[in-house]
Amino acid sequence: MKAVTTATPGEDCSYPGTGSGENEIETQVARQAEAVALYTEAAQVYDRLNQLLSAGTGNWYRRQALDSLQLAPESRVIDLACGTGALALAAQKLLPETASILAVDPTPAMRAIARRAGVAEIQEGSFTTIPAATGSCDAVVSAYALRYADPRRIAFREIRRVLRPDGDLLFLEMIVAPAGWQRDLTRALLTRLLAPLTSVLCRDPAAGKLIKHLWQSISELDAPAVILSDLEEAGFTSLEYRHAGGLLGEFRARRTRD
Ligand SMILES: C[S@@+](CC[C@H](N)C(=O)[O-])C[C@H]1O[C@@H](n2cnc3c(N)ncnc32)[C@H](O)[C@@H]1O
Repeated sequence: MKAVTTATPGEDCSYPGTGSGENEIETQVARQAEAVALYTEAAQVYDRLNQLLSAGTGNWYRRQALDSLQLAPESRVIDLACGTGALALAAQKLLPETASILAVDPTPAMRAIARRAGVAEIQEGSFTTIPAATGSCDAVVSAYALRYADPRRIAFREIRRVLRPDGDLLFLEMIVAPAGWQRDLTRALLTRLLAPLTSVLCRDPAAGKLIKHLWQSISELDAPAVILSDLEEAGFTSLEYRHAGGLLGEFRARRTRD
């Protein structure tokens, strides 16, 4: 994605509100390409990894979290960064047929698996380019991908754009302690134990590579308070962060009225 660069010569061309310039945009595009390449490589092992890391409770947890939104039967829901479709499938099971769920992801290999798994409506898109009309949906939900909301403030404004006033936002994400022994333990478990172990169990080095990337990306994510503050700035209210146990964190917010 290119920034709007209408500055006169000598002026700084930057993303509004981010302080980012052309270099930052190029870096962001490169990061996006890297993430797509990584998930293309890991697509076939993703569901097994998901099961292993959550000890089989991952889909149940997604469903519980969705259920807590108490969505109306005719809701239009977007699962952003749907991956292989676990959250979208949970929504399809939870909601009646009068509801509709659009799953969105930039990685073709992940979308292909989601389609085969039974996700009804899937489109290419990302946090910063959501293929939906302004004000067209009742809820945007996303699991384990908040770390790809890049640049975050642009992504949050894009989510706000597609939500109707008072629409719901739910992010599930892995949140690491900012410092101390819990952080050290998480790093060691992921990079020293689980990365090599899952590569062996899945018989695919892409599994270990994805776990190392997981550590890298969650360890770089800002603290929940910073994310809530970015949400507020982007036009969200009823902000809430809940630690759901272990590494699991949940962000909830509601789109403000205009
Ligand atoms: C850890 S997977 C999460 C998949 C799924 N939400 C789940 O619950 O299992 C992260 C997904 O984010 C997608 N992704 C990477 N960069 C993205 C971006 N900028 N916008 C949206 N999705 C992105 C990847 O293609 C991948 O499918």
